[in-house]
Amino acid sequence: MYPCSCSIQQWDSDEPIPRSELLAGVAGKHGLLCLLSDRIDKEVLDAAGSNLKVISTLSVGVDHLALEEIKKRGIRVGYTPDILTDATAELSVALLLATCRRLPEAVEEVKNGGWTTWKPLWMCGYGLSGSTVGIIGLGRIGQAVARRLKPFGVKKFLYTGSHPKPESAVEFQADFVPLAKLAEESDFVVVTCSLTPDTKGMCNKDFFSQMKKTSVFINTSRGAVVNQEDLYQALVSGQIVAAGLDVTTPEPLPTDNPFLSLKNCVILPHIGSATYATRSAMSVLSANNLLAGLKGESMPSEFQL
Ligand code: GLV
Ligand code: GLV
Repeated sequence: MYPCSCSIQQWDSDEPIPRSELLAGVAGKHGLLCLLSDRIDKEVLDAAGSNLKVISTLSVGVDHLALEEIKKRGIRVGYTPDILTDATAELSVALLLATCRRLPEAVEEVKNGGWTTWKPLWMCGYGLSGSTVGIIGLGRIGQAVARRLKPFGVKKFLYTGSHPKPESAVEFQADFVPLAKLAEESDFVVVTCSLTPDTKGMCNKDFFSQMKKTSVFINTSRGAVVNQEDLYQALVSGQIVAAGLDVTTPEPLPTDNPFLSLKNCVILPHIGSATYATRSAMSVLSANNLLAGLKGESMPSEFQL
């Protein structure tokens, strides 16, 4: 049994906790509340020692946690699914529209004097009406994205993932297809899957070469699902029209990264769940997960290892 009240040692800054502080601070603790920017690997687990019973992450993604090691040690994991689905889906749609209708570029033209007159083909992009949208990972967020895109007049939804999800797909009459077919047939590809050993580097040279030359690629999951060098080449060579990324490797992306000089790439700083209400709900949920774990009770949202 764990105590109902606990003392807290907190890294009280928005700057990431230095590794040395994390390793020293975690020693002997029963619980750890962490962010997606904290890599919780064997070194951290060893530093924590055998007291550690629960890790609660302020994120839905758990790819920063060494899950095998954690499982082996009988540590439980709390995370924050569901409550961030709407905000992340909304941001995915915003990024898709900003990318396919070239909004950052257009705003820049207004400011830099590029807007001289109304020209028929100037600043043209690609719209959603009549399009085919391919969703990589029709999970909670993927479904919420499809639900929001449907009213824009999307003609067809395709999806791919580890297995078909007929109950989820029925709402969108979405077809389960292999990755290559999704690449070939989609006008818009939206990546909303989680990062696992299976999805790491999944969007690579082969994938981009199968995409239509008029297609747009959106990623709001994790940067490492994409081979970023291959995406760069696809954007530079005109293999695809544009990309919108809320996630990159590394994060933050250094300001001299070549991606930042591409007009056909819209990059956001990992803000999928960044609404006040969502971040506040995530904070409460991750605290409740931690407390429940410390008390040995069932957590509001436990990640099944
Ligand atoms: C955001 O990327 C999350 O995993 O919550
Ligand atoms: C656009 O402003 C139009 O009038 O077609």
